[in-house]
This record gives sequence, structure tokens and C-alpha cells, in this order.
Amino acid sequence: MFFKQLATRDASLSYFFGCGGLGKAVAVDVVAGDEPWFIDEATKAQVSITHVIDTHVHADHVSGGRKLAELTGAVYCLHENAREFVHFDFESLRDEQVIVAGNVLVRVLHTPGHTLDSACLLVSDKRRSEAPWFAITGDTLFVGAVGRPDLAGREREMAAMLHDTLHAKLLALPADVEIFPGHQAGSACGAGLSGKPSSTIGFEKRWNPALSLPREEFVELLLGQIPPRPADMERIVAVNTGRVAA
Ligand SMILES: [Fe+2]
Repeated sequence: MFFKQLATRDASLSYFFGCGGLGKAVAVDVVAGDEPWFIDEATKAQVSITHVIDTHVHADHVSGGRKLAELTGAVYCLHENAREFVHFDFESLRDEQVIVAGNVLVRVLHTPGHTLDSACLLVSDKRRSEAPWFAITGDTLFVGAVGRPDLAGREREMAAMLHDTLHAKLLALPADVEIFPGHQAGSACGAGLSGKPSSTIGFEKRWNPALSLPREEFVELLLGQIPPRPADMERIVAVNTGRVAA
């Protein structure tokens, strides 16, 4: 398989990976303006982009996902819960669904908490093993931190949901599974993110300060450290939900 991480604007991290042998690729969390980078990388790797996925509807940057999908003929995917608030059609992702990109398998995990439509992607390369090799964790789990729970309101309830999601879906994974988050230090989407753009489940379990806390303490920690809202959030959300044009 091939795998690329793109450190882009607003401390966001995007991903492009797939199966070079069978020529299929997946783009994740594309930021508006980066579409040509993905198209160039696809040309270099001689792959076609079959799926463009946003791990959730973003509030801190305008997504380039729909545009990249249009330009390449790929399907644009969001978790099915996004139907509640998005005004355009998309391919729905469901919990435990598996996307096949040649020899690369992408298992969808629904991981609500940062938002109700948040999903993580558990990736394996059949040429190595069907076991998960890495997880793209969006704004659910960062290196050294977790996603903020307040952007859609009901922050206490969402923080508790995030705790349950993290323990049931991510921390239950084998310790050697790598994690690749949606942001690094400098992002408005969480507090205390590391500037290192990857980690492992095992390292985060031991050293991420939020992950060892019982539910109540986890909720209080998150509510006590809510960062300022992303600049221009109302407009960004209006564009990403299709209420207004970009
Ligand atoms: Fe986010």
C-alpha cells in the first residue's frame, strides 16, 4: 500500500492512501484548496481515487471533499448521521462497513462524541495482514488529547459520549495499532494536542492524560478546557453542510 499524510492549513492533517498494485485510493479530510495536491499524488502513484471521506462535518475549515470527488468521479462519503443536518446528497457510511480499495480495507467505526457524525477509519493491507495496521482518528482521538465536545452544543452529554466511544471503540484495539489524527498542535478542535502527527493506541493509553480518567472526571476535564471557537465557524459550517455555496 501507499500512504501519505498532508500537514495543511489550520493545523489540519489530511490523508491519501490506497493500493498501488490495483490502482485504487482513498482521500480523507481534504481541505479546500488542496484538491490539486491529491490529483497530482494520484497521477504520480497511477491510482484512481474511488472514495473521498470526511471523518465528520468540520467546523474549523472548509472541506474540499465534495469538490475533489466531483473532479475525480469518486464518491463523497460521510457517516449516515450527517443526513440530519447536511443539505446535499452523499454516500452514507455505516458502523462496521468495510470499503475495499484494491488490497486495502477500510473499516468504518462510528465514534460519536466530538460530533454525532464522527467516524474513525481502521485500515489494513491484505498483502501484510487483515489485522488493522492504523486508524485515522479524525477529531475523536488526537496525539496527547481528545476532541472538543462542545461544537454542536450539549457539551456535557457529548463529552460523556466521547468517553464511551473512546473506551469501547478505540482503546479496545491492539496496542500496536498506529493512530493518525485529524489535527496536530495549533488546532482549535481540541486542547493540548502534540505537534507529533502520529502515535499508537498503546502509547496514548499510557500517556494521554484524558484516557485514564473515569467518565465523570473525563467530562469535567473536557468541560474545563474548552478552547475558543474556531474563527469564522458559522460560515464554515454553513458551507460544509451545503446551506450556502463556498
Ligand atoms: Fe472537528
